[in-house]
Amino acid sequence: MSNLKHIIETKFTEKFSEMPSVIVRAPGRVNLIGEHTDYNDGFVMPMAIDRSMWIGLRPRNDQKVKIYSIDFDVWAEFSLDALEKDTGFQEYLKGMAWALQEAGHQLGGWEGVMTGDVPRGSGLSSSAALELATARAFYEVSSFDWNPKEMALLGQKCENQWVGANTGIMDQLISATGQKGYALKIDCRSLDLEPVTLPQGTAIVVMDTMTRHAHTDSGYNERRAQCEEAARHFGVKALRDVSREQFNAHKHELSDLVMRRARHVISEDVRTHKAAEAMRAGDAALLGQLMNGSHDSLRDDFEVTNDALNTMVDIARKQSGCYGARMTGGGFGGCAVALVESDAAESFAKAVSHDYFKATGLEPQLYVCEATEGASTVS
Ligand code: GLA
Repeated sequence: MSNLKHIIETKFTEKFSEMPSVIVRAPGRVNLIGEHTDYNDGFVMPMAIDRSMWIGLRPRNDQKVKIYSIDFDVWAEFSLDALEKDTGFQEYLKGMAWALQEAGHQLGGWEGVMTGDVPRGSGLSSSAALELATARAFYEVSSFDWNPKEMALLGQKCENQWVGANTGIMDQLISATGQKGYALKIDCRSLDLEPVTLPQGTAIVVMDTMTRHAHTDSGYNERRAQCEEAARHFGVKALRDVSREQFNAHKHELSDLVMRRARHVISEDVRTHKAAEAMRAGDAALLGQLMNGSHDSLRDDFEVTNDALNTMVDIARKQSGCYGARMTGGGFGGCAVALVESDAAESFAKAVSHDYFKATGLEPQLYVCEATEGASTVS
């Protein structure tokens, strides 16, 4: 963390001949359980991780935003009174500015530099991190209040309507509201949050398969459409409103494909509630089993895993000290997550890296993650 702060300060000084007046950051996330449930108004349990997007900035007297991306080694510039869609990383900043303006907030211009250590496209929500860091940057140079849930909803609006990825609320909400030391069980309808802690003596290891997805891929939207079809069949707003009993009584009325999609979502909500109970009771074994069940359902019923994710999860589950493992995020590539004994975390990471490389020829990245706070001002 302090390393990225140092990089921001150094680059800012190089570009603007003084220190930034303010530095903001917003985290990526790993979802422990509750996958593909957020857009079904269901339950999720992400935690904000110690990998973030950082922006160092100073205000400008005009309506311009000018930013240098350290990672892409490129400048971008846009005017707040003439926002137009284009392509490139700056669309997340522009889209966030647009969403804030649409909500009635008067924005000030600013200039700065940005960098981050959330790997892009890996399922750890680098885009939500960038959206929330941008919101925080505008907050620092404008005069609106910081309401984390509102900022998350505007981040989602940016993602859906400006960037064009039809994602749910989970990623932006955890990047905005994350709490140090806690995962959050989130009701994606009411947006109520419940902080929950990991069982004593356990750690979370994120395992990047090094295969990638894009949200604009048709797979995600297709799953959403199938879930909506199932909800329509049951005459409810979202699959969250269908109980297991109702589902079992009527599932034969659905096509096999739509039935399996709905079965994943409905069973995943149940697993997420049970996972929160397991965490409250400090029951690592049960939490691990539920994570395993989640992955199997995502693999067999929802069909959003790929070979790399399945291989990674199989290898992780074979290691001693591993309670459970599953894919995390949207799927079709990206990261898996494991719950392991803290004392075994380092040796677990080594063994999984070794075995995964042997099986796939890909060099994975493994990180032991800490739960951190949501979007904030660093200095
Ligand atoms: C992506 C989306 C989220 C959520 C997950 C799947 O990360 O951005 O809104 O739908 O996939 O749980």
